[in-house]
Amino acid sequence: MTRKVHIKTYGCQMNVYDSQRMADVLAPIGYVPSDEAEGADLVILNTCHIREKAAEKVYSELGRLAKLKSERDGMMIAVAGCVAQAEGEEITRRAPAVDIVVGPQAYHRLPQMIAEIHRGAGRALDTEFPALDKFDALPAESGQHGIARFLTVQEGCDKFCTFCVVPYTRGAEYSRPAASIIAEARRMAETGAREITLLGQNVNAYRADGPDGKDWGLARLVRALAEIDGLARIRYTTSHPRDMDDDLIAAHREVAALMPFLHLPVQSGSDRMLAAMNRKHTADDYRRLIDRLRTARPDLALSSDFIVGFPGESDTDFAATMGLIRDIGFAQAFSFKYSRRPGTPASAMPKQVAEAEKDQRLKELQDEVVRQQTAFNMSRIGSRIPVLFDRPGRHPGQIAGRSPWLQAVHVDGEAALIGRVAQVAVASATQNSLSGALVRTEAA
Ligand code: SAH
Ligand code: SF4
Ligand code: F3S
Repeated sequence: MTRKVHIKTYGCQMNVYDSQRMADVLAPIGYVPSDEAEGADLVILNTCHIREKAAEKVYSELGRLAKLKSERDGMMIAVAGCVAQAEGEEITRRAPAVDIVVGPQAYHRLPQMIAEIHRGAGRALDTEFPALDKFDALPAESGQHGIARFLTVQEGCDKFCTFCVVPYTRGAEYSRPAASIIAEARRMAETGAREITLLGQNVNAYRADGPDGKDWGLARLVRALAEIDGLARIRYTTSHPRDMDDDLIAAHREVAALMPFLHLPVQSGSDRMLAAMNRKHTADDYRRLIDRLRTARPDLALSSDFIVGFPGESDTDFAATMGLIRDIGFAQAFSFKYSRRPGTPASAMPKQVAEAEKDQRLKELQDEVVRQQTAFNMSRIGSRIPVLFDRPGRHPGQIAGRSPWLQAVHVDGEAALIGRVAQVAVASATQNSLSGALVRTEAA
């Protein structure tokens, strides 16, 4: 019997990957993915707990789903991901219509949990951090398709930044053995992947057994993946400035498949704030690190996350962040108003910043980032760049892809080019994308 499952994903790319893996575990027991909640037999919300707004969205969605469920016999609702991990019991209290609560380390148990409900258990909850490697318990074949895919290599975080829930929702740092990652990447390449983005909450803290019995870091893993036939591009995210070691910097110089784009969050440009955040580096440490990276790979484009309005942030602290942004020059950046998260040290700090002040700082920061992003995109006009085409464009006869620097690129071209890297002469740019024309290479 086939049943329909609708999975709605919030939060980071790791959740995107996890949602796909949940679909993989459910396929053998007859669940086919569905694009909408209406008519689905199982709805899974794969949730994010990082900011208050993200978490609250889940409860409003659960309200809507409870209504659907009351109109549809046998429909099940599951909450997965980081809200499930952080607020398991509270979810069942606030949203009694929820049947299953499953934490990020337990979703290989979904089929059993579904069976328990079918047998008449009122509710199933699993938010344990099992000793067992969940990746070993998951089906080997990932149902992902597409040209550019995600591959989780590391999970969890031991950094305990004072604002952040991730160490609590995802647990301690854990790296998958290199051999199992290489095998998964090979299968991805064999099924049409040309680009893989290695994922981890702290991906450059990756450290695990290599197939040679030695200890491998992320650089060693990247070098091994670069050898896989068919894989043209490798990226990784998210990294921490403190785990950027010499070998990884060298890989940016030496490994052609490693793309010249790095998301390296700094959060703030004020040393006082960085200390209060427990980031364990200064603004100048970050500047020096970027210098070394740019020496290794001069065309490296950078991206970061910023938090404005961390407790105690003064005008001078914020000015230091703006100064750092102007010094570095980012190709893109994500910025957030500090959000108080229950149980984190920063939530109990004095001198919480007023909401209006946060709004103003966020706007000023985002205006600068938009300026830099637009300038970065404009700087490509007139050049020829390699684009990996991965999808049809918005209009008929168009195709779209990514530049090495992660910009979206649109051109007129045949669908046959999808899955290939081709040269594009960039003619125009906007804040969010580039467009141009395919360079027809002359037959030699
Ligand atoms: N592991 C990554 C980021 C994980 S969370 C890293 O260390 O950089 C993604 C981003 O959300 C963070 O970089 C931070 O900018 C933001 N963030 C995390 N907790 C937050 C909070 N309480 N309020 C506002 N933004 C937050
Ligand atoms: Fe959160 Fe800091 Fe860990 Fe990133 S490094 S996940 S911000 S605690
Ligand atoms: Fe959110 Fe969890 Fe990712 S809190 S950002 S979904 S690790």
